[in-house]
Amino acid sequence: MALRSTFFLILLSTKSFAQVQDDWSSLNQSVGGKLFEAKPLASPCFSFYEGSPHQMDAAECERLQKNYTSMDLRIERYAGFANSQDEMCMSNTTDQCLLDSTNPSNALAYKNVSCNQGSVSSYYITVSSAEDAQAAFLFSRRTGTKLSIKATGHDYNSRSSIKGTLALWMRGLQNMSHDHYFVPQGCDSGEAVDAMTFGAGVIADEAYTFADAEGVTVLGPYASTIAMSGGWLQGGGHSVLSPVFGLGVDRVVQFKIVTPDGHVRIANKCQNKDVFWALRGGGGGTFGVVLEATHRVESKSVPLAVASMSFPTAADKSNVMPFLEICVNESLRWGREGWGGHIQFMTTKLIHVTPLLSLEEAENSMRPITEFVKSQKGTAIIEMLPSWYSFYKKYLIPNIAPVGQTRILATRLIPTTLFETAEGRTNLTFFLADIVQNGLLPYIPVSTPFLVDDPHNTTSANPAWRASLWHLGYGAITLPWNSTLEQTRMALKKSASFVEKAEKLAPSSGTYFNEAFPWTNEWQREFWDGNYGELLRIKRIYDPDMLLSCWKCVGFEDSVDARSSFRCLDDVLK
Ligand SMILES: Cc1cc2nc3c(=O)[nH]c(=O)nc-3n(C[C@H](O)[C@H](O)[C@H](O)COP(=O)(O)OP(=O)(O)OC[C@H]3O[C@@H](n4cnc5c(N)ncnc54)[C@H](O)[C@@H]3O)c2cc1C
Ligand SMILES: *[C@@H]1O[C@H](CO)[C@@H](O)[C@H](O)[C@H]1NC(C)=O
Ligand SMILES: *[C@@H]1O[C@H](CO)[C@@H](O)[C@H](O)[C@H]1NC(C)=O
Ligand SMILES: *[C@@H]1O[C@H](CO)[C@@H](O)[C@H](O)[C@H]1NC(C)=O
Ligand SMILES: *[C@@H]1O[C@H](CO)[C@@H](O)[C@H](O)[C@H]1NC(C)=O
Ligand SMILES: *[C@@H]1O[C@H](CO)[C@@H](O)[C@H](O)[C@H]1NC(C)=O
Ligand SMILES: *[C@@H]1O[C@H](CO)[C@@H](O)[C@H](O)[C@H]1NC(C)=O
Ligand SMILES: *[C@@H]1O[C@H](CO)[C@@H](O)[C@H](O)[C@H]1NC(C)=O
Ligand SMILES: *[C@@H]1O[C@H](CO)[C@@H](O)[C@H](O)[C@H]1NC(C)=O
Ligand SMILES: *[C@@H]1O[C@H](CO)[C@@H](O)[C@H](O)[C@H]1NC(C)=O
Repeated sequence: MALRSTFFLILLSTKSFAQVQDDWSSLNQSVGGKLFEAKPLASPCFSFYEGSPHQMDAAECERLQKNYTSMDLRIERYAGFANSQDEMCMSNTTDQCLLDSTNPSNALAYKNVSCNQGSVSSYYITVSSAEDAQAAFLFSRRTGTKLSIKATGHDYNSRSSIKGTLALWMRGLQNMSHDHYFVPQGCDSGEAVDAMTFGAGVIADEAYTFADAEGVTVLGPYASTIAMSGGWLQGGGHSVLSPVFGLGVDRVVQFKIVTPDGHVRIANKCQNKDVFWALRGGGGGTFGVVLEATHRVESKSVPLAVASMSFPTAADKSNVMPFLEICVNESLRWGREGWGGHIQFMTTKLIHVTPLLSLEEAENSMRPITEFVKSQKGTAIIEMLPSWYSFYKKYLIPNIAPVGQTRILATRLIPTTLFETAEGRTNLTFFLADIVQNGLLPYIPVSTPFLVDDPHNTTSANPAWRASLWHLGYGAITLPWNSTLEQTRMALKKSASFVEKAEKLAPSSGTYFNEAFPWTNEWQREFWDGNYGELLRIKRIYDPDMLLSCWKCVGFEDSVDARSSFRCLDDVLK
């Protein structure tokens, strides 16, 4: 078995090279030959790898260049991730293997440059059974090598690619099934629900297509390539249908998981209740390897009223605030009418759907914004579509966000109370104007579970979701492939100053674990508030040795972990 001597230097200092090689060989045997070596995605374009000459692959490089900003090729390879911060070691600009996403043929990025491993694992297992995950936990316990889990690689906080770990790649778990009367194991038949089960590798596009063929509606993310049962779900899982149908965690009824103690568990409201609660919002990559999850579905195709608005943004951005002010003023009413969607400035300005209104009601509801959009010579479409799938095909697929960039988010859950008083709306409008003046256009998913409460705290997701109307993205920045550490720091410090302002705007609220600013302070409270203590207690029961550990995940310790395994992120913002 080929081995790179640079890998696991720490192990080499206490073990001989041959011993380490034996460890990997026996691991490979125990997973039936499904252990593989990985180089970064763009390595075929580079003639050096880790400083040594390397065989390029011109055909593969060209294919990659043509597909660099699309997810299609990335989800079919272990080393493919959506955001470049997942591939590179952000604090060490030498330690990366990136192309120029604005021009993937730009030779400056790869000619006579060394492709370095960054935060991509050097070894991964293509998981196809519970036994594979069990073998990985045994290996981890025996050798001290930590694990990471990757489904699709959409994470914004480098949580699915962790330097020096053995990676578990879940994409191969492709099972999907539909059960009209699904009874969670150990519950009585009175608990039956219409539900679909998705293996950990199933992505939204596959789930939506399957649900449509079955004539039902399943709630999922806005990007077609995100996994249904991975980090999206375990971290909360918002959808434009969430105002009426809840978050992903509100709808999941059962998980099948291998916990780090090696046990395969079925977790639901009747058994392994603590694990079930933790997986409903406590975050991916933390409590074990989820093999599949069962999601409650709506037993029919739900017709949707759709509002789609766009207008040219003025060169001086003078029409941005008037538009946002209308949105601020009308959002409370829209929320009560079931509207969910996105407000943004990349292409379409407002795209909203509601299952609660007729066409005429939708037209009346949207009138203030329709009139404004028309005054700006824009287009305003209000229409009825017969199903989620028809909305997905018409509005999501053509607007898929480009990937392959270093894109850092900053978001906050905006409390409903701010929309309820003139003073609150004024404060919010001031904050938005401040962002716009500083060249940071907001991105606003209106995707909180506005009409869906969780009175018995059956989920562990941030309680701030239930008190909020907007999930406001305010400080996203995109960094070029060749950003120096100084340039990166300057850009991030600007974002960080808005993080402070956002926290002042809504001090008692919080931020979404999956889409948070990576350097969020007091992240335990910001991501989970009062739920953190219980989540930590459960983490310590099932993973006392921290075989699974990720950036600002439950159990992560700033003083220990950040300074050792996570320096690629920790050293960035100092
Ligand atoms: C373009 C884009 C659009 C987005 N849109 C939305 C949206 O509409 N709604 C929303 O809520 N979020 C959205 N997100 C954020 C999304 O929720 C996160 O990126 C999430 O981490 C993706 O989960 P994943 O499993 O597909 O990705 P991965 O990066 O593969 O995994 C994310 C985390 O989950 C863990 N994980 C993955 N699979 C498993 C498993 N089987 N068992 C245990 N842990 C696992 C990983 O270890 C990692 O910690 C979007 C992100 C992007 C880039
Ligand atoms: C694991 O075994 C398979 C099958 O024998 C082989 O193809 C693969 O290269 C091995 N993995 C490693 C890392 O050597
Ligand atoms: C990548 O690019 C090539 C050439 O443009 C194209 O034929 C192919 O379908 C693309 N997608 C994938 C997944 O390779
Ligand atoms: C930065 O990365 C390069 C390439 O991987 C490596 O040689 C160097 O030691 C790293 N520097 C630090 C300070 O870790
Ligand atoms: C490649 O880079 C090295 C130093 O990084 C330099 O010595 C060498 O001349 C370069 N080669 C070419 C062909 O540019
Ligand atoms: C997938 O489904 C098939 C057929 O139902 C079953 O035999 C198999 O065990 C399932 N695989 C996993 C990993 O759940
Ligand atoms: C929004 O409401 C405020 C009062 O709360 C009002 O002063 C302002 O003119 C309204 N803006 C728009 C664009 O309707
Ligand atoms: C609005 O902002 C002011 C100044 O920061 C603050 O004192 C006030 O409490 C805020 N009002 C609301 C409703 O948040
Ligand atoms: C549920 O959680 C909220 C927010 O943390 C808390 O205020 C409330 O007391 C909890 N309710 C129950 C029934 O535990
Ligand atoms: C990054 O590359 C671009 C060209 O692709 C160049 O214009 C820019 O100056 C480079 N930046 C740095 C910091 O080298």
